[in-house]
Amino acid sequence: MKKIHLDEITSTNTYAKENSDTLEDKSIIYTDRQTAGRGRFERKWVDLGSRNLYMTIFLRLGPEFRESYSNLTQYLSLVNCKTLEEYGVIPKIKWPNDTLVNNKKISGILSEAIFSGNRLKAIILGIGVNLNANVKDVRAIPDRVATALNIETSQDIDRDEFLDKLVSNFFKGYDNFIENGFESIKKDYIDHSVLIGEKITIQVLNKKINGIYKTINNDGTIKLLTQKGEENFSIGDILE
Ligand code: BTN
Repeated sequence: MKKIHLDEITSTNTYAKENSDTLEDKSIIYTDRQTAGRGRFERKWVDLGSRNLYMTIFLRLGPEFRESYSNLTQYLSLVNCKTLEEYGVIPKIKWPNDTLVNNKKISGILSEAIFSGNRLKAIILGIGVNLNANVKDVRAIPDRVATALNIETSQDIDRDEFLDKLVSNFFKGYDNFIENGFESIKKDYIDHSVLIGEKITIQVLNKKINGIYKTINNDGTIKLLTQKGEENFSIGDILE
């Protein structure tokens, strides 16, 4: 596993994409400053300073497609929860892969696929974790109520130590996850999830769908009870 540290970059995901021909499998790219950090659905990921985590895991894939590839962000969100738990907080997952602490967003994941022709060649998993920020800056984050680990624990967080723990936890279970897929983490994922059993609205592309959040299925999709009956969704965003 190779760690690549950059002082400043537009986005660690963009760097991984641009260097996807040469990057080694399991490379870790992280930076002190992101000048154009990207979130899901074209949102921006705000730079809160150099003591926060902006990291991308680059995974070069074998020729055989595995179902588990589509659930890697959910695997990473669970690993992220376990890592945050080492700091004494109680993190929760908002489907599919946001991490909340005390109902405030502390972390987000953006995955991107790289194809060679129609073959999936690599997956890049970008994660941002707010580790050391001041209250004023997290309050100014648009879209979501946010927090940072130093605010939740009242202590300074060592960014490099957090990164090492997260990466080590990720690769500890990685082969097993690829082999056995989402079902192997489903119970743990559900135990960490918020809003199950509640009325929610999800945004799927440009449509808003209301329903009761029944559960997470074996393939990581979300099951809602809507006016039409039970429906499963693989992409989307739970609205506040
Ligand atoms: C989201 O919650 O919408 C996903 C946010 C992902 C942010 C991370 S920070 C490191 C990597 N580089 C990016 O440009 N985005 C991801």
